Amino acid sequence: MILERATSDYLDSLRRPADPLLVEMESYAADNDVPIAPRETARLLGMLARAGGARLVLEVGLAIGYSALHIARALPEYGKVVSLERDMQMAAVAKTYLARDPAGAKVEVLLGDAHDTLPGLRETFDMIFIDADKSGYPGYLDLALDRLRKRGLIVIDNLLMDGDVATGRGDRHWPQASVDTALSLNRRLATDPALDYVLLPLGDGVGIVQRRGQ
Ligand SMILES: C[S@@+](CC[C@H](N)C(=O)[O-])C[C@H]1O[C@@H](n2cnc3c(N)ncnc32)[C@H](O)[C@@H]1O
Repeated sequence: MILERATSDYLDSLRRPADPLLVEMESYAADNDVPIAPRETARLLGMLARAGGARLVLEVGLAIGYSALHIARALPEYGKVVSLERDMQMAAVAKTYLARDPAGAKVEVLLGDAHDTLPGLRETFDMIFIDADKSGYPGYLDLALDRLRKRGLIVIDNLLMDGDVATGRGDRHWPQASVDTALSLNRRLATDPALDYVLLPLGDGVGIVQRRGQ
């Protein structure tokens, strides 16, 4: 947790209830230790997609389809989320959930290691959400910058890692290697003159990246 308890409880008190399908997905994730995005992060993704008029979105890390469904619901009827996932079982669970929502048809699951599948994608995306193996983040970011449309957004989750990134010390949950990757990525994003970067203390730390001067 990044925020102190009172603030976190207060924010929780403002949360609107999610619909039954999302609640079921949250319960499945909690019961099966699937690290889905916090609800507010997922809602932010939907809001950013809608505000930016996104039509084609790339997600690196589908899990059970929770964030993908939030994004898909925010897209127009002809919109699409291409989501990369290497775990076949996880993708199968995602597909059963996505099949239960009309927006789920907008999610196209690309099975395989994103290190192999992402470089093969030739489309230009309106928004890209990076939420998979932390060691892959620097490489995903480079490819994402290459595939992002003008004024598009890249959103990156877990850049504060329960506060470990601020102290620079990993614990049992966040290995030191992941913390080090986040530290160097945040430094790079915050200092690159070609990029605008905002790191929100929301959920587990949500980075939003946009190219400058477009
Ligand atoms: C944090 S979860 C994604 C959560 C999802 N975005 C959500 O919020 O609902 C990360 C997912 O990325 C997948 N993953 C990790 N490394 C990957 C890789 N190299 N290629 C493809 N998928 C990967 C994992 O199997 C896991 O399902």
